[in-house]
Amino acid sequence: MGSWQETQTRPEDPFAAIAPHYDALMENVPYGAWADYVTELCTRAGRPIRPGSRLLDLATGTGSVALEFAARGCTVVGLDLSQAMLEQARRKAREREIPAEFVQADLADFRLPARFDHAVCLYDSLNYLLDPASFKRAFANIRAALKPDGVLVFDVNTIRALEAELFTQRSAPGAAIEYRWVSKYDPNTRLSVIRMDFRVRATGERIQVVHRQRGYTDGQIRAALRRAGFTHIAAYDAYRFEKPRPESDRVFYAARP
Ligand SMILES: C[S@@+](CC[C@H](N)C(=O)[O-])C[C@H]1O[C@@H](n2cnc3c(N)ncnc32)[C@H](O)[C@@H]1O
Repeated sequence: MGSWQETQTRPEDPFAAIAPHYDALMENVPYGAWADYVTELCTRAGRPIRPGSRLLDLATGTGSVALEFAARGCTVVGLDLSQAMLEQARRKAREREIPAEFVQADLADFRLPARFDHAVCLYDSLNYLLDPASFKRAFANIRAALKPDGVLVFDVNTIRALEAELFTQRSAPGAAIEYRWVSKYDPNTRLSVIRMDFRVRATGERIQVVHRQRGYTDGQIRAALRRAGFTHIAAYDAYRFEKPRPESDRVFYAARP
């Protein structure tokens, strides 16, 4: 990888270099518990996830959430912009012999037939949409891919999380992939620039990438959802069933038309 300067000026996939290591970095992420939580939110929204449900995993990454639901009997399509992340997802599906389809597309610019009972978009993936117009378009595209009574569940990093520079963090000593991230939030643009520096311990490989996320207010999120045709909107403090608090750093939304 080049210097920070070079990385910033090339519009490259910020997940490309890290894709082969993504699952090692996420080894402590409880994807099974996340799937349970999402399932409960869908039940509360009036449309339980059941074997046979058609589920669209948006910003699927390496497909961990998609494969979790596919293993539970759902018919799953995973969508992501990053070819490198999708390669990992397809490899995992092959190796585990779990049927799932993976497609490359931009959240802000995709169209799939309205055939899904559920759409999920997890791990602050929507914060990667850096301009409000793309953010709004993503909800319209998701709405179009859902059946008339379909449910969307997603989570976001709150503005509070970005302000508090929660992305500034480093790996625990001895981790297989060591990392050091430094984030800088601009309250005027609500953009967070995160400089990520990784070192693969086994090979010594260094990876430096810059990620950018944008914070959206609860009002902006609800307005974008309503504009896309979602009328029932519930927000939750992450992994709980209580309303978000001012100090919530991650919020889940469950929405249906
Ligand atoms: C933090 S990862 C989350 C991956 C996965 N949902 C998980 O829980 O592990 C964010 C993902 O969003 C994808 N992404 C970012 N911007 C996107 C866009 N505009 N359209 C589709 N995918 C996007 C990235 O390629 C990446 O795989």
